[in-house]
Parts: sequence; C-alpha cells; structure tokens
Amino acid sequence: MNSQKNNTYFNPVKILKNQNWFKNINNIFERENIKNPLIITSKGNYKRIGIKEKFHKYNIINDVPSNPTIEYCDKKINDIQNFKIDSIIAIGGGSVMDAAKVFIASLNIINKSTLELIKHKDAIGNNITSIFIPTTHGTGSEVTMWGTIWDMKNKVKYSISHLDLYPNYAILDHQLTESLPEDLSIITLMDALSHSLESIWNVNRNETSTQYAIKAIDIIMKNYNNYNRKNLLYASTLAGLAFSNTKTAIAHSISYPLTMEYNIPHGIASSMTLIQLLILSESEIQYELNTIYKKIGINDLNEFIDNIKSIYTTKLSYRLRDWGVEKKDLIPLVDKCYTKDRIENYIINIDKNDMLSILKEIY
Ligand SMILES: [Fe+2]
Repeated sequence: MNSQKNNTYFNPVKILKNQNWFKNINNIFERENIKNPLIITSKGNYKRIGIKEKFHKYNIINDVPSNPTIEYCDKKINDIQNFKIDSIIAIGGGSVMDAAKVFIASLNIINKSTLELIKHKDAIGNNITSIFIPTTHGTGSEVTMWGTIWDMKNKVKYSISHLDLYPNYAILDHQLTESLPEDLSIITLMDALSHSLESIWNVNRNETSTQYAIKAIDIIMKNYNNYNRKNLLYASTLAGLAFSNTKTAIAHSISYPLTMEYNIPHGIASSMTLIQLLILSESEIQYELNTIYKKIGINDLNEFIDNIKSIYTTKLSYRLRDWGVEKKDLIPLVDKCYTKDRIENYIINIDKNDMLSILKEIY
C-alpha cells in the first residue's frame, strides 16, 4: 500500500447551483464591474445555446475542439493578446474549460506560448475574473485548477495546473445539459464516476474529498437510469470537488494513451478499468465501499460491479477489443499507461506486471 498523506481540504470556487445561468452571468458582470468578457465555447454550443445572440457585444472564441492541442491554444493566445479583456466566460464541456484555463494564464502572463505557460510554476496572478458553466455532467473542470492540453503529433498529454487557475465562479444550470445525447450522457457520467473512485483510492485523499466522492457516487448510481440531468450535473461537480484535492490516479493514467491512440472517448477510457481497480482496492477502501453500499441499497462488491456494468450499453463497451485495440498492443501499452506520479496516487502499489494484468482483464 502506498503511504497516505494527511491533507486539509481546499477549494475556492464559488458554486452557484440550480441557477438561471444567463441571468446569473449578468448579475456577476454587474457585481464585479465586468465590461469586456471573452466568451469561450465550442462550435456545437455556440449554435445550440445561441451564444452569438446572447453575447453579440463581446469577443467570442467559438471553435474549441475536443481535446484542444498546443497548436490550437498557441494560435488563440496570439489572437487574443491585443483584446481588452477583464474576464473569461467558459461555456462548454471539459475541452472548452481546459482551453479556457490556458487563456486565463495567457492573459495574466503575456507573451508566453502554451508550453511556456504549462511549465510556469510561479504565481500566475488573478487579474481575470473567470466564470465556468458546464454543459456536460462529467468533467468537474469548473471546480479544478488544471486543464488538459494535447500534442497529438508527438502523442503527449500536458496539464496546465496552478492554484491561480481555479475558476472564480461555477454556475450549474442543468438546462444546458438537457440536450446531451444518450451516449454522451453515459460517457460523461462515467468520467464523473471515475473521478469519484479515483479520489477515494488515492493517497492524497482527506475526509472532505472522500465525503464529496461518496455523495457523487450515491447520486450517479441512483440517477444513471433516469438521466436526471440536474442530479447528474451536481454529482459531476461533487466529483470535481473531490478530485480537485487528490488529483486523479491509475484509471486516468491508463486512459490517456487509450484516448490518444485509439480515440476512445475520455469518459470511457477513464472508466473501463474501474471494475478491476475496485477488485484490487477493495480491502483498502472497505469502509468507504460499505458506506456507498448502504446508501444505494446493495450488499457487496459483486452487486456494485453489476450496477456499474449495467451503465454501459452495447454501444459503449468497456472492452479494449471493441475499440480497435489488438492483443499484440497490450505489452507496448504498459509503459505508455504507466505515468509514475498518477500511479503513485493510487493507494495500492502497482508494478508493470500488474498493469499488464489489468489491461488483459479489460481486453
Ligand atoms: Fe476524467
């Protein structure tokens, strides 16, 4: 077992729950005297939410792609350096919020490339008010201080991470998630389930992070069938509050090459190992598991595993073979999946042979 640290819980984000997001933004604009916001969103949300009509007076970035890259962020940083901006409003899923964190850093520390911002460890500053509004119920990025940026050419995944990158506000309005297609809903709720479990089997956990995670799992397991967006969005933010203090662990370490090399959506890649990891971790997290079983009305790990399996549909397999991975790929995958710092967050010591066994189990 890896040694556990004893940390005090910290998260500074002001969460406005069950709010009318647009009304709330305008209230914050007034309260914080915001005059020149930069709106960040994806093409899909730009159309779907009517961003152009709602924010016609302001600068808008409306083309954040899935898994934003270094090149994309560099180009946008260049475009916005000359804008007069006092705040960033990120409206979207994880990718939009990831990119928005790079832009916040770039507006505080000018003339730096994305890679330089990622490497910057001194204070970033907080001259830019940030308001994050999730449109999916999985990422939790509205309450974390990091964003994931990709270099697809060289198959490298980077994290921009700094205390100054916690958003100032997170507005939760489930109406923005109502039109999520069923597949995307399952993918994102599985990511939230992964964040919750990753924060429980984590050496950095503390009492508060574990309480948030258990509450998130309780809500997810009671709502994955009925797609109650209001509850699933809240669960996703609770899971974010949990892993904002612990970081992710082994399930996410394994997920990144699966997304980069096989295009497995993040929520699937980050959750396809959960069952194996639950089996491995059971004795170390028995107390937390018992609390979860009691809350959701089941008796043991077998029932919990059956529930998790039932979330996947035939369209969303948790088997590597169904996503184009070949058996011969498993050995080369071991090294790529083994990111030392994330593996060390896991409460159990895992070596590369264990990693191969896990990959074989989900093959
Ligand atoms: Fe994740």
